[in-house]
Amino acid sequence: MSVHKEYKKITTKRLFDMKQAGAKIAMLTAYDYTMAKILDASGIDIILVGDSASNVMAGHETTLPITLDQMIYHAGSVVRAVDRALVVVDMPFGTYQGNSKKALESAIRIMKESGGHAVKMEGGEEIAESITRILSAGIPVMGHLGLTPQSIYKFGTYTVRAKEEKEAEKLIKDAKLLEELGVFALVLEKIPAKLAQKVAQNLSIPVIGIGAGAGVDGQVLVMHDMLGMTKDFSPRFLRRYADLHTIMSEAFTRYINDVKSLEFPNEKEQY
Ligand code: KIV
Repeated sequence: MSVHKEYKKITTKRLFDMKQAGAKIAMLTAYDYTMAKILDASGIDIILVGDSASNVMAGHETTLPITLDQMIYHAGSVVRAVDRALVVVDMPFGTYQGNSKKALESAIRIMKESGGHAVKMEGGEEIAESITRILSAGIPVMGHLGLTPQSIYKFGTYTVRAKEEKEAEKLIKDAKLLEELGVFALVLEKIPAKLAQKVAQNLSIPVIGIGAGAGVDGQVLVMHDMLGMTKDFSPRFLRRYADLHTIMSEAFTRYINDVKSLEFPNEKEQY
């Protein structure tokens, strides 16, 4: 059970207080009602309806194809399951970059149609105008720096970001800017642990890491990865807390065999 289960509802203010108190924040992704219900009841602080749904739910190679309508569908399913966690919804690729008016319209659609509590956006200075406009409408924004998967074709690879001094300096500058603009929290993905710790120490907002070491204020993983449902993805930062792939495969095989051998259904399992 989570240390912070005593909190009734997680808000952006509570997350800020947790950082000041040195209490770590636990965040995982979810994309559907059933999983989100189990996750929320387990005491998770933040549920991210990530655009990683594009990979783990829809089977796309990248996060780029998922649409605003699809994100709203996933987010609405999660929101209906949740009593306590803060639900953050990823703004999908193409709905906020380079056009702050479109960005605000996209964020408003997410909030109105899914009931999500906040949005997450990838990038720093280059999306500052969109972030400002969304914040001005009273919509909380979570930032995301480091490896930003929506820019995968610019990076060309999913390897660790900001190892070079120039990129590290830009990341520190962007993180400070995002805090000044008013984002309530920041995700740092796949960057050196020392750099992530430095950023977390220099910001008063919570910094949540994925592949960013232990010196940050919280951690996030993709649910399907940490449950061991995805077999072909094994980055160093991923800890698997279950082997659901094996458990599910065994259950499916037993069912198939039972049906074919007339073991299922038995006398008690029929009317
Ligand atoms: O889409 C997602 O799941 C994410 C996390 C990896 C932070 O952005």
